[in-house]
Amino acid sequence: MSKRILLGVTGSIAAYKSLELIRLLRQDGHDIQVVATKNALRFLPTLTAEVFTGHPVYSDLFDPSCSVRHIDLAQECDGILVAPASANFLAKMSLGLADDLLSTLCLASTCPVLVAPAMEEHMYLHPAIQEHRKILAVRGVYEILPENGPLASGKEGLGRLASAEAIRNALATCLSRTGRWAGIRVLVSAGPTFEPIDPVRFIGNRSSGKMGYALAEACAQRGAHVTLVSGPTSLHPPPGVELKHIVTAEDLAISMNRAFPEHDICFMAAAVSDYRLDRPHSKKRKKDGNSWTLTLEENADILASLSGLKTPGQFLVGFAAESDLDHKKLLDKLRKKGADMLLANDISQPGIGFSSDENEITVIRPDGSCLLTGKHPKKVLADKILDEVEKVWRFPSRPFSGTVR
Ligand code: CTP
Repeated sequence: MSKRILLGVTGSIAAYKSLELIRLLRQDGHDIQVVATKNALRFLPTLTAEVFTGHPVYSDLFDPSCSVRHIDLAQECDGILVAPASANFLAKMSLGLADDLLSTLCLASTCPVLVAPAMEEHMYLHPAIQEHRKILAVRGVYEILPENGPLASGKEGLGRLASAEAIRNALATCLSRTGRWAGIRVLVSAGPTFEPIDPVRFIGNRSSGKMGYALAEACAQRGAHVTLVSGPTSLHPPPGVELKHIVTAEDLAISMNRAFPEHDICFMAAAVSDYRLDRPHSKKRKKDGNSWTLTLEENADILASLSGLKTPGQFLVGFAAESDLDHKKLLDKLRKKGADMLLANDISQPGIGFSSDENEITVIRPDGSCLLTGKHPKKVLADKILDEVEKVWRFPSRPFSGTVR
């Protein structure tokens, strides 16, 4: 949906990247008004930004040639995105200073405000900036975290402006808080569980968590309040999602059983380890020239226990990782676990499923109906899955009570 976005650009070398951002946001149909700080004008190719947006770049609060009442810009826009946000600008926002046009507009607005910091690592990690970040987060300002990578100084580190794609996704999440899933609470489990053998060894599996994270992100983009319970992964939390970390299947069971009653929909995408060691060793086991026999015991089935807690109106989605997709066996699995939908993927197929970016899913319902999604990137697939849920689940009529994080 097209929105009016005020893009604040501050004095960082990353300001040139605003052009790519404008291009992406224009592709999404948004109307962009750039407001640059005085220092940003040293880095931003103003004329190109004006051509890309179709609007003059504003900078001066007291520009006599300007016919627009600047303060109106703050009231008329649907969202303010400051990208890149310099250390100085974060400090000014946190203190509530209004000594130029952009800082004045940030104070005068009531719409969602997002900041994408970009600076040297030492500056970003400085206690002053960390304090400012906390204050802004408490006020509901949404931070798009910087990335690790090469910095302007030539060093590598944390502080690189988030990618244009990540900024675009975060903006979409914030703007969709009034979307179709607004007020819906979704619980997603993702990633593997690790079962300790001793303090350094564990039993794990190849799950990357990508499918669960993609689902969490897609739900948040539709406006849902999302709780993501994640096993160990290397993924960044999707924007706008409440993240809880777990390690073992037992941790996951405790978190899911506790959180489930507070949620409307649950996607059980975690690859739960079916077995754990009967007695993990408290100290690292030394080599002694002998073989080592481990005794494993079965973990509880979390999905099945959630279906026992299910109340009318809740919707429970399970996954199935199978080496061959037999419709009857899948239907048996779905019914045995008491899920309302089972999403099965064939782990024997190269290039889909575990760890890969793509997947192909068979969607099964308790009445035996079945749908093949075709092979897609996991993010696309996540949206297709939500479309299927929308077809069969009756949305509660409850007012939206979420906040923009
Ligand atoms: N699951 C669970 N608790 C377990 C094992 C699996 O909640 N201890 C959930 C998974 O998150 C998934 C679904 O059950 O949503 C099916 O997982 P899958 O690994 O396909 O099936 P299993 O129950 O482990 O059975 P099997 O491996 O024997 O087919």
